[in-house]
Amino acid sequence: MRKFSISLCVLLGSTIFLPADAQPDPLASCAQCHALTLNEIPEDKITHRMERKAPDLHYAGRKFNQDWLVHWLQEPVRIRPGGVFFGRHVETGTDGQDVIASDSLLEHPSFNEKEARDIAAALMSKSEVDAGLVPEGAYAGKGNVRFGKMAFVKLRGCIACHENEPGKGGVSGPELYTSSQRLRPDFIAAMIARPQEIEPRSWMPHLEMSDRDVQNLTSYLMSLDPGEEQ
Ligand code: HEC
Ligand code: HEC
Repeated sequence: MRKFSISLCVLLGSTIFLPADAQPDPLASCAQCHALTLNEIPEDKITHRMERKAPDLHYAGRKFNQDWLVHWLQEPVRIRPGGVFFGRHVETGTDGQDVIASDSLLEHPSFNEKEARDIAAALMSKSEVDAGLVPEGAYAGKGNVRFGKMAFVKLRGCIACHENEPGKGGVSGPELYTSSQRLRPDFIAAMIARPQEIEPRSWMPHLEMSDRDVQNLTSYLMSLDPGEEQ
């Protein structure tokens, strides 16, 4: 009898709460680690930055290429070599160099192709970032790659925090050698020009840069070899 009433409840519950045509939210499981809306981000942005388990996804549709998302969600590889807040995963080695405690880094959940497609489509509809911050056409498509490289590795110090090829460059920011597959060029240009407006309290420096510098750097990042076909 008890068994019967439990299954009856389950049955009634599912009829009441899940009508036959309702689709489960493909992003439901992501919320335990990622902020999916601006509302979930607390006022205290510094604490959020240091304590969040994963990057915010409320503006994913402005940032990512959908094809890359579909591929990466099936076979996730690490993007931030030093973790989301690298201060938690980096130790000082005997020679004084930074050593990443990779055991403490999380393996990302992976999904089958159908799930990855549904999730990627749902992510692409997320564009909660102040209007105009990532405008269409922010990247004009004709920067100078050679000058961009010079800015990246020498003049602007980007290489201190970002890798421009696997194992080469800093580990406190996301790797950038897969930029052309992973990121939308308008997002890259906008992020270089105004990092804190997109990622509040980011420690990426806000440099006074001309639009020409921004275009050159974006062209350089778009030219990098992402390695294996993704
Ligand atoms: C257990 C925690 C956890 C869960 C659950 C999780 N993620 Fe993540 N996710 C992470 C972490 C940590 C990273 C950062 C990985 C890196 O930089 O190498 C990440 C990175 C990402 C990125 C790249 C973000 C960027 O800015 O580079 C995407 C996209 C993403 N996750 C999507 C999802 C989606 C969609 C779901 C749910 C279907 C999900 N994740 C579930 C922890 C999680
Ligand atoms: C002090 C470290 C630091 C320096 C220097 C730095 N960045 Fe960043 N950058 C970051 C961090 C950290 C992020 C990730 C956003 C966040 O969480 O704040 C980031 C994000 C980015 C992104 C977005 C990538 C993504 O996957 O989210 C781009 C593009 C970028 N940086 C380009 C540059 C360029 C170009 C320069 C040089 C002009 C530069 N950065 C200098 C730390 C840095």
